[in-house]
Amino acid sequence: MRQLNSKVFILLFLGCFTSVPAFVNAQTGDLTAKGQYIFALAGGCACHTVPKGTPHIGGRAFPIPFGTVMPYEKYSGMAQEDLKALIAYLRTLKPVKKAPPELKTWVPLVRSVGTPIFLKIFGRFNSAPAQAPKSGVERGRYLVEHVSLCGDCHTPRNFIGVPKQSLYLAGAGKKIGPLGEAVPNITPDKETGIGEWKREDIAELLIAGTKPDLDNVQGLMYEVIQGTPHGFKDMKKEDALAVADYLKSIPAIKNKVDK
Ligand code: HEC
Repeated sequence: MRQLNSKVFILLFLGCFTSVPAFVNAQTGDLTAKGQYIFALAGGCACHTVPKGTPHIGGRAFPIPFGTVMPYEKYSGMAQEDLKALIAYLRTLKPVKKAPPELKTWVPLVRSVGTPIFLKIFGRFNSAPAQAPKSGVERGRYLVEHVSLCGDCHTPRNFIGVPKQSLYLAGAGKKIGPLGEAVPNITPDKETGIGEWKREDIAELLIAGTKPDLDNVQGLMYEVIQGTPHGFKDMKKEDALAVADYLKSIPAIKNKVDK
């Protein structure tokens, strides 16, 4: 009996050594898989890819009134668990050597002085929660606001590039939309927004890029759906529905967007 016990002990002991690396690998795998999903929810971080170019190598020009630059603060509200997974995933991407193009701007010292001042005055920073909301309208709000950044395109900006909160998600006409594209009003206004869409219609648009009239989305929305190569198309149905439920809960704003 004693002999049997020590055999069992030795087997268990060896078993621990062989299965620990497998366990660690599985955990790292889970983290990068989760990170890849967060990356998809962020539209494949499509702004860092020139369409049809090598993915993720940057160098895409975003003209804003100060020149061709891009200050950011919305991601500050991303949950720490999601951020950790996203970083683990980004570390798995193949390194590519490519210097980003020169910053084009008329503002002197834009990076060292201008951007910090701009963000100090206009930035709306959030404290990152440890965990992301798991379901419901709160999950939808979290994704729209801090991961998918729908407002970056769907909320118009004023002449110095600050989002107009009074027109939250109410669309931007061609003259002021990102890269000269008209961006539709996605508030629940029945006449100028998507108030007539069912929650399933919104989820279908996010995952498949098809509108209720069976037309396909184009331009920047197509880019974030397709991703690089992960994008909104990889969104789980329940997350797409959470986004839809959040969009249905925000105030309807009448704002007709010129195409
Ligand atoms: C990179 C810019 C960008 C981002 C980010 C973005 N959109 Fe869009 N979206 C667009 C553009 C441009 C269109 C118009 C596409 C078209 O009509 O072909 C559009 C179209 C739509 C439409 C169709 C509305 C209609 O009336 O036809 C919906 C709904 C929508 N977006 C929801 C979202 C949601 C929800 C998010 C975030 C999860 C999001 N979008 C993120 C740029 C963007």
